[in-house]
Amino acid sequence: MSPRLNIKIGRLELKNPVMVASGTFGYGEEFKGLLDLKKLGAIVTKTITLNPRQGNPAPRTCETPAGMLNSIGLENPGLEKFITEKLPVLNKTGVPVIVSIASEGGREEFVELAAGLDRLKEVAAVELNISCPNIIHGNKARAKLIAQDAQATYETVKAVRKVTRKTLITKLSPNVTDISEIALAAERGGSDALSLINTLVGMSIDVKTRKPKIAVATGGLSGPAVRPIAVRMVWEVYKQVKIPIIGMGGIMDTASALEFILAGASAISVGTANFVNPKAAIEIIAGIKEYLIKNKISDIRRLIGSLKI
Ligand SMILES: Cc1cc2nc3c(=O)[nH]c(=O)nc-3n(C[C@H](O)[C@H](O)[C@H](O)COP(=O)(O)O)c2cc1C
Repeated sequence: MSPRLNIKIGRLELKNPVMVASGTFGYGEEFKGLLDLKKLGAIVTKTITLNPRQGNPAPRTCETPAGMLNSIGLENPGLEKFITEKLPVLNKTGVPVIVSIASEGGREEFVELAAGLDRLKEVAAVELNISCPNIIHGNKARAKLIAQDAQATYETVKAVRKVTRKTLITKLSPNVTDISEIALAAERGGSDALSLINTLVGMSIDVKTRKPKIAVATGGLSGPAVRPIAVRMVWEVYKQVKIPIIGMGGIMDTASALEFILAGASAISVGTANFVNPKAAIEIIAGIKEYLIKNKISDIRRLIGSLKI
């Protein structure tokens, strides 16, 4: 018998728990032809802002041991162009579309974006990117991210909750002392789910030129290097909240995806791996199914948080 892979995140029904992470899959069309898109559980879009953004100067990415740094700086076409040009293409895949949104300023932009997306049936859910480390840079004093402040997280989620009936997912930052505190604040604000982790702030230097390898000096670290931190954070948050968790951070294959599910994630997102192997997410879906069959588990939900300690 085929094991049950479908799960529910808020009001969102997914045929399997494997998504692709924001910013690593463009708006879907970039990966057309490289994999069977309709097999994915969901697609999370590159984060959009109200107005178009050009992003940061190049170089914006570099390789690091077992990972990469990026400082794209939220390059995106803005809400209107996203709706007219990107969303129709995404919708054709037949896969639930989770739209990631961020604000260049205050809470109001999140509210405006969420309200603007609420009326669109093509949008399955909204992910609040309150954790992008790549907007403020260089010598400027680093402003606090919303996801680094429990009260700001609570207020932002609460304000957005008021204007949308869509499933609301809040994306958390690992650049904090206690991620559970922020997770609880998002839950209290009305978030239906949490996704974690966004990237860890890092830096890499070219010793020949004595320049940073990323033009704006720092970037977000992702890939296998961050996985143990991400798994630990999912486990910590799982013990504290009641809402589902979407786990990510260095998932490259089935085994690494399963680590997150055992730690408490109801679903997982594949990010950096898409650049190495565009079929990674599809292979992971098949691999999870195989694992369930081999271990005689009829329902993926029985695996969530089943870590033995
Ligand atoms: C090039 C690149 C761009 C990213 N852009 C975004 C983004 O726009 N919004 C967002 O929420 N996360 C963004 N992320 C973070 C990923 O969605 C993910 O949270 C993180 O990379 C950890 O997962 P991974 O190690 O599997 O990549 C980006 C990551 C990379 C590598």
